[in-house]
Amino acid sequence: MIAPITLPATGCNVGKCQDKGDGLRRAERCDDVLGRDVHPLGVDPSAQQTHHSAWPAVLTRIAGTLSEVADIIAGRTTEHTAPTWSETRGWTSFLRELSDAQVADCEQRGLHRCAHDLPKMPPTLAKLCSDVNQCLALIGVSRPPSADNGLSPQSYSRVPSRKRAQISTLVSLSHELMRSSTRVVDVGSGHGHLTRLLRASLHLDAMGIERNTSLAKTARELAGPDGPRTVVADALVDRPKLGPGDFAVGLHACGDLGDELIRMALDSRVPLLLVSCCPQKTKARERQPLSSCGKRVALRWPRDVLGLANLSACYGEGVDRVRGAMTARETRCAVRVFLAQRGIHVSLGETSQGVNRRCFTKDLEVAAAHVCRARELEPPSRHELEQARADGKAQFALVRRFSLPRDALGRLMELAIVLDRACALEEQGYAVRVEEIFPAATTPRNLAIIGWPSR
Ligand SMILES: C[S@@+](CC[C@H](N)C(=O)[O-])C[C@H]1O[C@@H](n2cnc3c(N)ncnc32)[C@H](O)[C@@H]1O
Repeated sequence: MIAPITLPATGCNVGKCQDKGDGLRRAERCDDVLGRDVHPLGVDPSAQQTHHSAWPAVLTRIAGTLSEVADIIAGRTTEHTAPTWSETRGWTSFLRELSDAQVADCEQRGLHRCAHDLPKMPPTLAKLCSDVNQCLALIGVSRPPSADNGLSPQSYSRVPSRKRAQISTLVSLSHELMRSSTRVVDVGSGHGHLTRLLRASLHLDAMGIERNTSLAKTARELAGPDGPRTVVADALVDRPKLGPGDFAVGLHACGDLGDELIRMALDSRVPLLLVSCCPQKTKARERQPLSSCGKRVALRWPRDVLGLANLSACYGEGVDRVRGAMTARETRCAVRVFLAQRGIHVSLGETSQGVNRRCFTKDLEVAAAHVCRARELEPPSRHELEQARADGKAQFALVRRFSLPRDALGRLMELAIVLDRACALEEQGYAVRVEEIFPAATTPRNLAIIGWPSR
């Protein structure tokens, strides 16, 4: 039996709501947005009550918005011709006429967040942007957990800098959540940094589960003889047994593993902290919803569409990173033009056949040389490269513009999948928080599910 735990109250960023942690006031404002009676998003688990849940209402609202644009979600924009959905909605000339600076701003912040700065936006697109903003605002941002988690700066010495803030937050959150747990099980533990530091900070038994043998080997080396154990196992095939006293953690538990972690927690009735990522990493052709609510709203997307919920050039990630991703996409476009000049007509995805996709982050000359080698073609001439560079740039300028409405839906899809998982927990008697626990600059995959059995 898991004893009650005291959780930090979280602020609300719903619409005009000014609440900074008082669940009841926040709930009143959430009513406004949802247009129905909902429970406070932040449930006090120490109350140990069966509660009327908010997440199905939020998921239903988001699924409604997404279903109206199912045709946009269905097809990635890779062509420089206007997509049918843009033509039928009358958005094409608006998108074509955006300046380069406006496009860069939308790529950086998201079209939905730029709508107010784009007065010529067609009303139907402005309405979609407004719906997306309202839905995203239904999720709270965690109050930063106490930085004092007992770990010295030296503890992080083997942790890559991009992971440090993530791990520090998760360790601090775990301090607040794991009052009655005796062991932490880190599923998809990678190099084992989180497992190691959770154990060092919490002074509890800790175990990592990792299917990649080489990562597990590194984790064991880093842990040393007194550190946590890492078990090599594919959690989808050989599900770890959890039991009373366990606390399940998954930091960027990707694709199917995220769904599996929910099932594992439910089967053993243990609390969990899950930060999801990469929903497209699934064996199934189509992700199936876990929750009854997800099934009711038909939350199903094919694998090739799920990548949208994991946009790599992600809002808030920093100008350089977004610009870098866009330059790579432009180079890819130019390589495709170059291949077409040679009579080889391929889709954008097929340009990377036989090469490491990272070659597109290099200059066109380097990328085209790699592609030629992989396809046993003569290297490109200067003239071919100049032509491909110019045509690729012109084509990519249009692809970028036509990509904006679809890209603006990615975060909402990600949230819908997270909420499907949250609903699955709630339907089985869990109290659940769903929050952004890191700033996007730390990692754009920052949505956490914090769940604990409440009955
Ligand atoms: C995105 S990485 C995150 C690693 C680590 N938690 C971190 O945050 O640095 C996901 C990890 O989960 C592991 N993984 C994916 N599916 C798995 C499965 N079915 N069973 C065990 N490990 C899995 C991968 O090998 C990878 O190391």
